[in-house]
Amino acid sequence: MLLVVVYIRSILHDLFLCLSPSISQMPEFEKNTVHMRDPERVERIICDMIKGGASKLQVITDFDMTLSRFAVNGKRCPTCHNIIDNCKLVTEDCRTKLLELKNTYYPIEIDPHLTMEEKYPFMVEWYFKSHTLLVEQRLQKDKLSEVVRDSDACLREGYEPFFDRLQKHNVPVFIFSAGLGDVLEEIIHQAGVYHPNVKVVSNFMDFDENGELKGFKGELIHVFNKHDGALRNTEYFKQVKDNCNIVLLGDSLGDLNMADGVPNVENILKIGFLNDKVEERLEKYLDSYDIVLVKDETLEVPNSILQKIL
Ligand code: TMP
Ligand code: MG
Repeated sequence: MLLVVVYIRSILHDLFLCLSPSISQMPEFEKNTVHMRDPERVERIICDMIKGGASKLQVITDFDMTLSRFAVNGKRCPTCHNIIDNCKLVTEDCRTKLLELKNTYYPIEIDPHLTMEEKYPFMVEWYFKSHTLLVEQRLQKDKLSEVVRDSDACLREGYEPFFDRLQKHNVPVFIFSAGLGDVLEEIIHQAGVYHPNVKVVSNFMDFDENGELKGFKGELIHVFNKHDGALRNTEYFKQVKDNCNIVLLGDSLGDLNMADGVPNVENILKIGFLNDKVEERLEKYLDSYDIVLVKDETLEVPNSILQKIL
């Protein structure tokens, strides 16, 4: 008898939890920036994640153009690399070359007619050329915080509640970026959101004994080799192995692979920001991301989901 009562109570509990998140009742989902191929699937995943709560949750996120904004009033915002490209530490000649590289390779990065495999060697080429130019500039480590402070770096609206809520509930946040780790860390530090639950994996600069840039540490992370992140960070993912529900945030199709190889995954909700070449890319994004946010410069939708879970 007691067992039956407990069973019925647990069903009612689950039912209540499942009914409460209905995304049709969440005003953030009514924005015309929100696109979903299968809203019922999204609903099911969110429902499971609510049941799992904070202790089962982890966030895996890209940085540039995902946590940072794509544009403000129509003006493009800088990536981590662009912050250095535009800073006073690099010569005009170097700036011109970096800009030429961006004009050559960024269109390839977002080309809707090329596969990731076809883009891959071009990305390696871009990073190699760009990082070689940066090393030639012998950038000084102790100038980076000033460079970031003077830059147009801009995080998406709602970044504070995003990071603060995740910290409050002790949810691990893995920022996996093909940007520049030192610049990224400085941005989130200056924004006051580099909390202890945040781990940054990115391209970190290697400085010589005089604090001048001499190279980069570890293996290069570029836009399309994020699939072996879990393999290269086994210690981290071992520590968070019970956090089997993943909210993944990205803006590139390469970001979809950020959770590949993460052990013990029960649910994964993939949220993608589609910032550029929208018409040409929307179908592909809808095929691969559960929620696609088109030209949405805010974290309102991820925040509304986190608020339900936490
Ligand atoms: P993400 O993985 O955090 O999004 O960072 C990678 C972005 O950086 C990607 O969109 C390409 C961009 N990038 C530049 O803007 N300038 C560069 O010189 C390089 C190599 C990459
Ligand atoms: Mg990005």
